[in-house]
Amino acid sequence: SELEMFVDELPDMPRIKGFNFAHDSPVPTNLTIGMYQKLWKFHRDLPATPVFAYGTTKENATVPGPTIEALHGIHTHIKWINYLPSKHILPWDPTIPTATPHKRKGIPTVVHLHGGVDEPQSDGHSGAWFTARFKDRGPSWTRKTYNYHNLQHPGTLWYHDHAMGLTRVNLLAGLVGAYVIRQPSLERPLGLPYDEEFDRPLVVFDRSFNKDGSIYMDPKGNNPTIHPQWQPEYFGDAIVVNGKAWPYMTVRRRRYRFRIINASNARFFNFSIDNGLKFVHVGSDSTYIEKPVTTSSFVLAPSEIADVVVDFSKSKSKSAILTNSAAYPYPSGDQVNAANSKVMKFIIKSEHEADSSTIPKKLIKYPPPSLSAMGALTRHIALYEYTSPIDEPTHLYINGLSYEAPATETPKVGTTEIWNVINLTEDNHPLHIHLGLFVVLDQTELVDVDKFKECMSKYNDAIKCGVHKYAVGRKTEVPAHEKGWKNVFKMMPGHITKIHVRFSYIHSNESYPFDATAEPGYVYHCHILDHEDNAMMRPLKFTH
Ligand code: C2O
Ligand code: CU
Repeated sequence: SELEMFVDELPDMPRIKGFNFAHDSPVPTNLTIGMYQKLWKFHRDLPATPVFAYGTTKENATVPGPTIEALHGIHTHIKWINYLPSKHILPWDPTIPTATPHKRKGIPTVVHLHGGVDEPQSDGHSGAWFTARFKDRGPSWTRKTYNYHNLQHPGTLWYHDHAMGLTRVNLLAGLVGAYVIRQPSLERPLGLPYDEEFDRPLVVFDRSFNKDGSIYMDPKGNNPTIHPQWQPEYFGDAIVVNGKAWPYMTVRRRRYRFRIINASNARFFNFSIDNGLKFVHVGSDSTYIEKPVTTSSFVLAPSEIADVVVDFSKSKSKSAILTNSAAYPYPSGDQVNAANSKVMKFIIKSEHEADSSTIPKKLIKYPPPSLSAMGALTRHIALYEYTSPIDEPTHLYINGLSYEAPATETPKVGTTEIWNVINLTEDNHPLHIHLGLFVVLDQTELVDVDKFKECMSKYNDAIKCGVHKYAVGRKTEVPAHEKGWKNVFKMMPGHITKIHVRFSYIHSNESYPFDATAEPGYVYHCHILDHEDNAMMRPLKFTH
C-alpha cells in the first residue's frame, strides 16, 4: 500500500448509554441499532469505501459501530435492524454452509455480543439470521429485540455479525463494535483511568483496499473447483484502528487505558511500542485479572481483548509507534512488512501534568475454577484441517464433524468441565466458547504427532488413539496476563491445550436468570472467521 501513515486522527467511536435514568437511578433502556450500507473514509488519500456500518441512524453509523456502555445489573434491550440492500459489497461463497434467504434476496445478518453471558434467544446464533426489515429469517430465529442482562463481571466485550457462512464477509464489510459493561462501585476505587478521555477502546483490524477505495477481497477460492471463492485466511496490508488506516493520537503525559480488540478475520498481532513504553495489563477478554502484569509485547489473536494501561509520562520521546511483529498466518507464515508492522502513532505532548489515576497492586480476584468432588467431565476437542489433491485447505472441522451434525457437547448448566483441545493443524486457532468462561491450565506439545494424526484420521477418538502417550512433549506456560478468565484463547499447533470451562457466573454463585437450555442453543468455534465459516464451529447445547 502506498498510503501515507499517521495522517488521520484516531476517532473515538460515538458512545451510546445502554441504560436510562428514572428519578436519578439507572433503569433499562431500549435501543434501536441499524445496519446500513454507506461510504466510510478509511484514509485521507483513499476515496470513500462502501461499507456496512452499525448506527442508530444511517447518518451516524460508523465503522466500527458505536461503543455501547452498559451498566452492571441493568438490562439493555437492543433491536438490531438490517437495512442492507440485496447485494453484498464483497464476494461470498454459496458452496460452504451459508445462510440462504428463501427468497434469495437480502443479506443475512445476526448480531452476537461476544463475551456476553446471555440467553440463547439473544446470543446471535448463526442460524438466527434475518434480512432487511426481518423480511426473511433463518431457521433458529426467535426474536427481534435482544435482551442483554449485563449481570456478569464488568469488562470489555464486542458485538459483531455471526450469520452462518457470512461472518467473514460481514465483518470485513464493517459490522463490528465495542461494548463495555461498567460497575463503577467496584471499578472506580481501583483508581485506573476510567473517564471517556483516558479510557479508550481501540478496535484493530487489517484490510486491503482497491484504488477506488473499495475493500479488496480475493474473488477466487484457493480450490476454485471446490469452493469458487473461499480462502482459508483473509489478510490485508493496511492496519486500521477505530476506522482509520494507521491513525495518530495526540496524548497527554499521563496514563491512558486502552481496551484493544482484535477484530481481524485472521491476523494475529504481536504489539509493542517502539520507544520502550510498556503495557500494564489489567484485564483480558472480558474480565479483570487479579493483579497488574507488565509486558513490553504481547500477542493478541482474532477476537482476543487486552485491557492495558500505558503511562506516557514515562516517554523519553515526543512520539511513539505501536508496532506489530506477528507472522501471518500465525505462527509460521509470512513475516510482517513495512505496512502491516505499524499500527498507529502516539504524539506525546511535552507539558508534564498531574495524573490522579493509579495502578493498584491488586485488581479483582475471581475464585479459581473448582471441579466438583464427583470429578468433572472431561472432553477431547480435536481441530482438523482437510486438504485437496492440490494440497490446499478445503475446510476445517472440530472433532471431524460438520456443523450440522447433532450436538456432541451438551454440558450441564452450572458445571465446570475440562476440555483438552488438540490442535492437529499447522496454524494457531483462537477457540471461542459462547456463554462459558475458561481458565487455561497448560499447553503440552504432542510428540510423534504424525503417528497420532494417522490414528486420529482413522478413528477420530483421542482416548482410543492413546493421546496421553503423545501428550508428553514440552510444556508452554500460559503468560501471566492470560492466567485469568478468558472466553477465547490461542490453541498452539501440534499441542494439547487444557482448559477449565465454567458454565455459570464467575463472580457470584447465582444461577443464570435465563434458561440456557432453550433453543436455539449456543456455539463454539475457531475465531479465525474464514475457519469459522467453513466450518470450524460446533453447536453447544445445554442440559439440566
Ligand atoms: Cu466473537 Cu461466536 O464469536
Ligand atoms: Cu482456526
